[in-house]
Amino acid sequence: MPFSKRVNKIGVSPTMRIAAQAKEMLANGEDLIDLSVGEPDFPTPQNVKDAAKRAIDNNETKYTVNQGRYDLREAIAKKLKNENGLDYSPNEIIVSTGAKQSLYNAVQSLVHDGDEVIFTSPYYVSYPEMVTLAHGKSVVIPTTEETDFNMTPDQLLNAITPSTKLLIMSYPTNPTGACYNKKELEAIAAIVKEKKLFVLSDEIYENLIYDNNKFVSFAALDEEIKRRTIVVNGFSKSYAMTGWRIGYAAGQEEFIKAMNKIQSHSTSNASSISQAAALEALNGPQDFIPTMRNEFERRRNFVYEQLCSIKGIKCFKPKGAFYLFPNVESYFGKSTSVFRIEHSFDLAMYLLHEAKVATVPGSGFGAEGHLRLSYSTSMENLEEGLKRIKEALEKLV
Ligand SMILES: Cc1ncc(COP(=O)(O)O)c(C=O)c1O
Repeated sequence: MPFSKRVNKIGVSPTMRIAAQAKEMLANGEDLIDLSVGEPDFPTPQNVKDAAKRAIDNNETKYTVNQGRYDLREAIAKKLKNENGLDYSPNEIIVSTGAKQSLYNAVQSLVHDGDEVIFTSPYYVSYPEMVTLAHGKSVVIPTTEETDFNMTPDQLLNAITPSTKLLIMSYPTNPTGACYNKKELEAIAAIVKEKKLFVLSDEIYENLIYDNNKFVSFAALDEEIKRRTIVVNGFSKSYAMTGWRIGYAAGQEEFIKAMNKIQSHSTSNASSISQAAALEALNGPQDFIPTMRNEFERRRNFVYEQLCSIKGIKCFKPKGAFYLFPNVESYFGKSTSVFRIEHSFDLAMYLLHEAKVATVPGSGFGAEGHLRLSYSTSMENLEEGLKRIKEALEKLV
């Protein structure tokens, strides 16, 4: 097919490949436990759903201002001020079709041919592809369990060249659940200022942070850092609204104007119904968030303990999000009469077919040797899933 060079350079996300097989197995009535999911298993809060229904009945079904309705941007500004200590005017905010679209628009606005974009691995699968689509060059800083999957200031310094334009920060991290504390962020911020970088701060998991730790928005570190940063956030994870496709970005007005231009010629405004729902999510009761967070923390503790009790597994204890990212290298080179395990993809396939548990191979996140397990499913499923994983891994010799 005569596809563009651009599209031929990007791949289908491995998350999607496993998810597609898992969905097919479920459709065939197989007794599958799905630990590959990337979204909260909670339903969207009722008050938010009701607001959307009202919006439809009130015929709020037309185009809105491209940048997002003003009252929603005001509510986002208020949230950023009260929860993150950040002062933005509604003109410094754009509402988009999911945080992902804001990330994409920011990369498209800032990165041009040959510009280097730094981020750590394991990374969110879309970062390298977004950079490729903008004709930029991804510079990946590898992290491991040794540094709690955080980069060190030295690693960052060594990755910077005269072509470095942008640093993507993302914590709590998908897929590891790693998170920086304020002191660690300050060390990174000092380098950002010295080297005059821009920062894209993906804060989508800000509310899913455990052990009484407090989330620190990168832009809140100081005024210069705020000027250099585009904050991206959304409603998908905090309010269980993945399917509504609604997110936002905040930053200097020039950044937002540039992103608005791209959005105006691609998708235009985010869905008017989802904007009405998002407004209620921010203005309505907030008790949904701590309830969901506490349940995720309980599940994290359970799955972490179970994984640590499996002899061949080494596991980092995540500080946030809803994933664990165990090291499974000790199973490489092992086999059964049917399966030979050489890579994380083989192990994910083995667990899918032998244990009927769906996981995601680490290779897709730029971190071979690991699997991503999501605990965004019921405790009952987690208990059964972990039991099956244990049994299947014991069969490998
Ligand atoms: C790190 C990270 N950023 C952004 C997104 C996209 O969020 P949204 O649903 O708001 O587009 C995800 C979704 O999984 C994610 O894990």
